[in-house]
Amino acid sequence: MSEQVTERSDMWSNSYIFVLAAAGSAVGLGNIWKFPYIAGENGGGAFVLVYLICIAVIGIPVMASEIMLGKLGRASPIQALLNLTRKHNRSTNWSIVGYMGVVTGFLILSFYAVIAGWVCYYIVRLFSGEFTGADANAVGEAFGAFLADPMQVLLWFSIFMVITIFFVARGVTRGLELCVRYSMPAVFVLLLILIGYGIHAGGFIESMAFLFTPDFSSLSPQAILIALGHAFFTLSLGMGAIMAYGAYVPQDVSVGTTTFTIAILDTVLALLAGLAIFAIVFAYGLVPGAGPGLLFETVPIAFGNLPGGALFGGLFFLLVALAALTSAISISEPVIAYVSERSRLTRAQIAVIIGVVCWVLGVGSVLSFNVWSDVKLAFFEWTFFDSLDKLTQLVLLPLGGMLIALIVGHVLPKAVVYEELGLIREKAQQSWSYIVGYVTPIAVFAVFIIEAIREIQAHL
Ligand code: PFF
Repeated sequence: MSEQVTERSDMWSNSYIFVLAAAGSAVGLGNIWKFPYIAGENGGGAFVLVYLICIAVIGIPVMASEIMLGKLGRASPIQALLNLTRKHNRSTNWSIVGYMGVVTGFLILSFYAVIAGWVCYYIVRLFSGEFTGADANAVGEAFGAFLADPMQVLLWFSIFMVITIFFVARGVTRGLELCVRYSMPAVFVLLLILIGYGIHAGGFIESMAFLFTPDFSSLSPQAILIALGHAFFTLSLGMGAIMAYGAYVPQDVSVGTTTFTIAILDTVLALLAGLAIFAIVFAYGLVPGAGPGLLFETVPIAFGNLPGGALFGGLFFLLVALAALTSAISISEPVIAYVSERSRLTRAQIAVIIGVVCWVLGVGSVLSFNVWSDVKLAFFEWTFFDSLDKLTQLVLLPLGGMLIALIVGHVLPKAVVYEELGLIREKAQQSWSYIVGYVTPIAVFAVFIIEAIREIQAHL
């Protein structure tokens, strides 16, 4: 099959670089911006527990499946699925998962870049010392004033989009590696500093209790779907991003080890971000359910009151922006890979097309926080931003992940899968087949059904 590996077969020269790139994809706004705010909105502990279960029972098997499909198919997700189904005489309709991933990628990138734009603005804001000595009120007002100004938000969104397209066009892998290798440990250290601040300011114990004491009475059925969707989002699963990266892994890479490494890294970073942010929330009497602005309304308070805070705070947002960039690059990979296979367009041309489409869509999300904040989808009461966010996280990613599990569990011949995973013992083979073939897809399906019934009842 190696003849299908095109000119980029050497993309990851060893498994270490692949792990860094995949971790770069996984760790991003999902960990530092999204996880804390949705945990806050959904009551904390019980939600966190469900999220952790989803990572273990659903996320990890789907990630292993995606890496494996990429490795076996050696092409863009669409082409990889076509290659594999043809080779094993199965229906090529399964490649629909690849097409869904392409659409999902456009939708996610369009709003992801808007939030990354907020982060970019905060790099400048913190470095400038604007928040030095600021209290919670001032920080909250400063965020509100920024969001209320569509031109400002549009500007920073556009800046991030241009940077992303520049790197996507260049097809950087070395840059990606370098960026992740140094910025990830640095994010880790800065989160520890923030946690240290939380301990000093007195909100840490409450933050621990909030995140790790499950109160199931506060857990709604919708929260379960949100936790499930977030497990996909945070691990970059369900749309072929990891599959696209997996297409370039060297043959000797162990799918199991890389999957666990990435999942653990990603989860630890999310939990640390949550601990840090809620420590600030409780120390200053803020509300955990503040929504998408939570990161921007908490972290500047801490840095504003730390010695050297302008420098460290600016650095923190710079690192978050880099984490967002390495994720954004991966979101575009399935599209880039597919269009390069099918057309004569250069990588740069495809990147620009992706950029333009996402920019146009992104304007809707920019306006959702100001001019169009009252324009809502009937029935659900979602703004344009909410609609894209929920459609991708709650529907498209879990659906894609479920189909991926079904492909690996039921469509591909078992022997091929076992060999790729290096599963020799019968017990291990059986457990794998049981999990990926039944537990994972049924769990996703069950959550869908429960949620659908709830929605129907709620609107009857
Ligand atoms: N995993 C990224 C994050 O947590 O920020 C977001 C993401 C990247 C989602 C790639 C989907 C994807 F394909």
